[in-house]
Amino acid sequence: MAKKLGAAVILLTVAVYVGAIVAGLHVKNFSLFEIGTKPDGKGMAWKAPLLSSIPNGPHGDSIRRGSLIFNETRLYASGYTHAKVSCGSCHAQGGIQPYASPMVDIPALFPMYNPRAGHVISLKDRIQECFVRSESGKPIPSNGQEMQALVDYINWLSQPQPGRRPFVGRGLIHLPDLKPDPKHGADVYASQCAGCHGDHGEGLAPLFPPLWGPDSFNDGAGMDSIQKMAAFVQHNMPQNRMGILSPQDAYDVSAFIHQQPRPAFNPAYKSF
Ligand code: HEC
Ligand code: HEC
Repeated sequence: MAKKLGAAVILLTVAVYVGAIVAGLHVKNFSLFEIGTKPDGKGMAWKAPLLSSIPNGPHGDSIRRGSLIFNETRLYASGYTHAKVSCGSCHAQGGIQPYASPMVDIPALFPMYNPRAGHVISLKDRIQECFVRSESGKPIPSNGQEMQALVDYINWLSQPQPGRRPFVGRGLIHLPDLKPDPKHGADVYASQCAGCHGDHGEGLAPLFPPLWGPDSFNDGAGMDSIQKMAAFVQHNMPQNRMGILSPQDAYDVSAFIHQQPRPAFNPAYKSF
């Protein structure tokens, strides 16, 4: 009986999570962002646009498609990646979570000089970069529907919000340079991360992304840097208790993850 009840609770939790992912922007947005919308004399805070406000018609369809690709890349852009990570695995909450490299207001930054590529890149080039590195996939056609859908979705997230304050939280938080201890990181991983990401970093796709192994991002990805992962993890993980790790713990666990195997970046794509 207790076993059956336990299974039912797990099933229900999974259904709620999957429902939230399918609905595009997660349900938890509301609590996070509605709080800041009370007038405070300086105007209202930035507010996550609602999926229900996407217009009907071909442009709206493209935005919706972009949201699906963003949150379930392997399912909706299946020809271009076999990794079990989605854009939203790192750019959390459909790309609006502050300091998880959010997508809001990103289009205005392009074209931009990119030191890794060694030349000026467009937003589409930047998306390709995440496809071939973070998604460990291959480039998606620059003029194809999938790419356009992602660009339309990111533009939609970045639409002007007259009378509201600008979005805050670009990029990742800044952490001091620390010397990591991967041995201690293994303990942090076992106690704070393995519950969702698995004892062997395999995750439980699509709910919890893998952190290493064949289904993870490759060694050319930004997340493959201990410092960048530490900044991501310190602010955004553990997902159910964000902010509990010290910067040192975040470095340590990232260094431990860094020691584990992952796919190699395909040098054929090094122009991205
Ligand atoms: C494994 C994690 C991961 C995945 C998956 C991922 N990204 Fe990224 N992405 C990053 C990180 C980390 C950065 C910041 C990189 C840096 O500073 O080098 C970034 C940067 C970006 C940027 C530039 C943002 C800025 O602030 O300059 C865009 C645009 C972007 N990603 C789009 C995407 C899209 C679209 C997808 C899905 C196709 C995707 N990313 C998948 C980790 C990821
Ligand atoms: C409650 C479940 C949960 C726990 C615990 C948790 N994570 Fe996550 N993690 C997630 C989810 C879900 C995502 C996808 C982004 C999101 O929705 O916030 C994620 C994304 C990530 C990512 C980026 C995606 C990728 O493929 O690299 C990293 C890195 C990460 N977690 C590391 C950690 C570390 C390190 C810990 C322990 C300190 C941890 N997580 C604990 C659920 C969890």
